[in-house]
Amino acid sequence: MKTKDVIILAIESSCDDTAAAVLCNDRVLSNVVATQEIHEAYGGVVPELASRAHQQNIVPVIHQALKQAGVEKNELSAIAFTKGPGLMGSLLVGTSFAKSLAMGLNIPLIEVNHMQAHILAHFIEEDNNKKPQFPFLALTISGGHTQIVKVNGFFEMEVIGQTQDDAVGEAFDKSAKILGLPYPGGPVLDKLAQQGNPRAFEFPIPKVGGLDFSFSGLKTAVLYFVQRETGKDPEFIEKNLNDICASVQYTIVQILMKKLKKAVKETGIREIAVGGGVSANSGIRKSLTDARNNLGWKTYIPKFEYTTDNAAMIGIVGYLKYLEGDFADQRVAAKARYSI
Ligand code: KG4
Ligand code: ZN
Repeated sequence: MKTKDVIILAIESSCDDTAAAVLCNDRVLSNVVATQEIHEAYGGVVPELASRAHQQNIVPVIHQALKQAGVEKNELSAIAFTKGPGLMGSLLVGTSFAKSLAMGLNIPLIEVNHMQAHILAHFIEEDNNKKPQFPFLALTISGGHTQIVKVNGFFEMEVIGQTQDDAVGEAFDKSAKILGLPYPGGPVLDKLAQQGNPRAFEFPIPKVGGLDFSFSGLKTAVLYFVQRETGKDPEFIEKNLNDICASVQYTIVQILMKKLKKAVKETGIREIAVGGGVSANSGIRKSLTDARNNLGWKTYIPKFEYTTDNAAMIGIVGYLKYLEGDFADQRVAAKARYSI
């Protein structure tokens, strides 16, 4: 470590993952995530339980991150934390902890917008990985978010499309739940879909204006379809599981790609950076590869550990803000609804 190196400890606690990371400039030294398994039994995140689990996890997770990085607390340049958006009870744990630690160590505190962090995760340095060029379009798809953002600079971002109801990950998870698959169902549905016929069953593509998305209708359509078909044949799901999964996945990918293509057409930008847990989906990856080959898009997907909720992405924003001297003061408060 050189004396002018910037060492950031980053804390993320916006939903159900307690995460801490240590960065030296734009490189990740450690990236620790404690995923809260308690929610599995409920088939979704229970906010009160998430908050309590963050309180239990935050100290050991931070210790682990510092230990893995080989960094002592007195070597830290600043503390970065997620201010929002997210679940209030969850955000409060990380925010309070970050504020106390920064005060105790007498170092700067840096507030980070979780949605900006998903996008700026692309700028984490990894063996000279290719970074998106400004301006680019960011598609952020996860269990909590679905957005298309026009990114003109590190902190010049404009949301040009977003979901009006459920996030895309919820569409995967809720459809999977209807089919009796375990939570979170997205990855399981994806696996089964790869052995099925995507055209076996047809589900409606919602008509939503502009670049916005809607996914709640799909969940209802899947529910009614399954109820109707199992009424005729109680073993319908078992007999057709792969085909149902493939058809649901095909519909979701169509919804996303249709709007992404529209955004490319309207902005003329063909640099596409994709982030969020749903970017692991094989159908989306295939469509993006096709667009790269056939439409001349340049596509970027970060390493999986930087694309699901994590603290390394909070740390890279912390580093970029540190360079600009953009610090928060001790009156900073968590914000559940917090736009880019
Ligand atoms: O980014 P993430 O880890 O957490 C947030 O929600 O912020 O994303 C989790 C979401 C879940 O809904 C999960 O089912 C979905 O990403 N997911 C997938 C796949 N892998 C994760 N959905 C579809 N296909 C996948 N392969
Ligand atoms: Zn997220």
